[in-house]
Amino acid sequence: MNIEEIQLMCNRIIEETGKVFVAANNDVLKKILSGFLAGGHILFEDNPGLGKTLLVKVFAKATGCNWNRIQFTPDLMPADIIGTKVWRGMNSNFEIEKGPIFTNFLLADEINRAMPKTQSSLLEAMEEHQVTIEGITYSLGSLFTVMATQNPIEMEGTYPLPEAQMDRFMMRVSMGYLDSTEKEAEILRRRVSWKKDDPSEDVKSVITRDDLMKLQLEVENVYVDENILCYITEIVRSTRRNPSVRLGSSPRGGLALFKLSRAFALLSGRDYVIPDDIKYLAVDSLSHRLMLNIESIMDGITAESIILSILNAVEVPKNYTRGI
Ligand SMILES: Nc1ncnc2c1ncn2[C@@H]1O[C@H](COP(=O)(O)OP(=O)(O)OP(=O)(O)O)[C@@H](O)[C@H]1O
Ligand SMILES: [Mg+2]
Repeated sequence: MNIEEIQLMCNRIIEETGKVFVAANNDVLKKILSGFLAGGHILFEDNPGLGKTLLVKVFAKATGCNWNRIQFTPDLMPADIIGTKVWRGMNSNFEIEKGPIFTNFLLADEINRAMPKTQSSLLEAMEEHQVTIEGITYSLGSLFTVMATQNPIEMEGTYPLPEAQMDRFMMRVSMGYLDSTEKEAEILRRRVSWKKDDPSEDVKSVITRDDLMKLQLEVENVYVDENILCYITEIVRSTRRNPSVRLGSSPRGGLALFKLSRAFALLSGRDYVIPDDIKYLAVDSLSHRLMLNIESIMDGITAESIILSILNAVEVPKNYTRGI
């Protein structure tokens, strides 16, 4: 595939999604699509009713993928996600019943409502794209992506995600409320023309699953100059030196920023990464990995503000090549 073909495909996905989902701007969709192309899991941290479920359904449909949703609750067990052995009276034997995790896009709604044991059953799946049921390992395929949601304000009855689980998300995104009456009214206007609440069934598949896999492979060919690799590393290492931070970003955070920036470059019609890609994606790929100390939290310092100050302080590479 050449760069024009790639950009055309990506634009088709964004356009088809935008027909149903009203986004503040195309950048939000571009960021989320970068996450998919980079093969990453995404954590949506947003209030209820902002269209998270709709977005996942529409993206899945537009890319020819299938999806499942699991509502996380305190009594959800690992077997409810992964699957288990069940007795089939008719055949007089036990059979493996695969759980909802066997899909391309898994929407894990309100992930922090489940017990840690259940949350951690997602760990193996997220990292290795495989699960083990009764000692047998099953592959989930390369397109397997977890899109989890959590509500940022509600704390009661929740189990905050442990650091290890947080780290497995390539990015954390907050879509937030639409920024104008004009755009929010568009949701209602569309509802008038659809004459139904769920328009996702009318969404067309504008690419196939094979195309999506090919796009993911293309991300691997995007060129990143040595000076840009050092720029990413310096940003990541600075998070560990910051006095407000108790736990800085892991090397996995650096890899996430690296992979996302390659995907974002492709979506922008380039086959090389520029420093602006890194600046644009640093907060989304790193902020959820930082644990601040209590005093800083009390002072109103946030992980986002720390990353922004790091971006201001770290020298931006001026010399970088755009390919070999
Ligand atoms: N940006 C948007 N564009 C189009 N429709 C929207 C948008 N935001 C919300 N809606 C509409 O609002 C309703 C609620 O959306 P949805 O169920 O996707 O929200 P949610 O974020 O998943 O909520 P919850 O956190 O409660 O699960 C749907 O009917 C959806 O069509
Ligand atoms: Mg929802």
